[in-house]
Amino acid sequence: MGRIKVAIAGVGNCASAIVQGIRYYSADAAAPGLAYRKVGRYAPGDIEFVAAFDVSEKKVGKDLSEAIFQPPNNTPKIADVPRTGVQVKKGKVLDGIGRYLKDVVPVSGRAEVDVVEELERSGAEVLVNYLPVGSTKASHAYAEAALEARVAFINAIPVFISSDPWWAGRFSRRGVPCAGDDVMSQLGATVLHKTMVKLAVDRGVKVDETYQLNIGGDTDFLNMLEESRLKDKRESKTSAVRAMSPYPVPTRIGPSDYVPFLNNDKVCYIWLKGRYFGGTVVRIDAKLHVVDAYDSGGVMVDAIRGTKLALDRGIGGPLKSVSAYCFKHPPVQMPYAEAKSAFEAFTSGKTER
Ligand SMILES: NC(=O)c1ccc[n+]([C@@H]2O[C@H](COP(=O)([O-])OP(=O)(O)OC[C@H]3O[C@@H](n4cnc5c(N)ncnc54)[C@H](O)[C@@H]3O)[C@@H](O)[C@H]2O)c1
Repeated sequence: MGRIKVAIAGVGNCASAIVQGIRYYSADAAAPGLAYRKVGRYAPGDIEFVAAFDVSEKKVGKDLSEAIFQPPNNTPKIADVPRTGVQVKKGKVLDGIGRYLKDVVPVSGRAEVDVVEELERSGAEVLVNYLPVGSTKASHAYAEAALEARVAFINAIPVFISSDPWWAGRFSRRGVPCAGDDVMSQLGATVLHKTMVKLAVDRGVKVDETYQLNIGGDTDFLNMLEESRLKDKRESKTSAVRAMSPYPVPTRIGPSDYVPFLNNDKVCYIWLKGRYFGGTVVRIDAKLHVVDAYDSGGVMVDAIRGTKLALDRGIGGPLKSVSAYCFKHPPVQMPYAEAKSAFEAFTSGKTER
């Protein structure tokens, strides 16, 4: 059985969830919670972490198995993770640490490594970008390193790379696959909101207005108090919902507040008002409560395995179906059911992308 060698940039809650999740499904491949036990020939247990980058003094220099449990990470523990032999290396800080994070993320005094060299040395095949929202320069630096090292790039955050024609062209010309942008959680606010709007439109309801408010108590939400870092996050979340309606709908979507005692729980309120037969008013008020990092992990296991299939098949450039299924701001936006069919057509080898 082939292994998938993965490097991680940003050892925060999402990294913790996927590292623990891989242990969880390695111990019991039949445990519930996966959309696909196998993607192609790959099970989650085939994912192996070979390199990791962070900038925090609490994480750099530690084995990945310890770094994932360092504060301010606060997602719950679901698995014991034995030593991985992967020491977290220091990347360039650039714009990774914003105004609110600097109080809770002390920057390591260790020397920065050459990310390209580290990717090559570790044998990484895929680099997953899990940096904080607003880390545009730092994300670009990791994308450059992936291109140079010819390592596939999966962008979990709302900085536009796979969905940006300039970056997508560079990945195509280099023959390196990329997928993104901004991971769409397994049963998260975006897929629920998209599905609600699509359902209403398909059933002939004229959607008049909709909003989605999100609160949480992790560093992601703390960082997102800085409105200037949020432009692409709002655009990513809003564009995913907007694409479900053939006409403009007044919409307000975004992270709404930081509530420290929620820890890694995220609470989302979705409101939709529309008119059906006879102009009669319908209102839907939905509340979703999840543990945020595990919600991303359930999709990232599919994104990583889908990207590995592209590598196996020698496909470079943006992966249309993997991105539409797993991300909020893909190169081509699709309703959820269509994206899932496209993903399955790709992973079963029926389509090229
Ligand atoms: N369900 C979800 O949790 C979800 C969904 C969609 C998108 N995302 C996005 O995924 C990203 C990661 O989320 P998270 O909850 O793990 O965040 P986090 O704040 O817990 O982790 C971010 C990590 O990046 C590190 N970092 C900062 N600058 C760095 C740099 N220059 N190089 C290397 N590491 C650096 C931080 O020290 C921290 O360990 C965020 O952008 C988030 O918005 C998460």
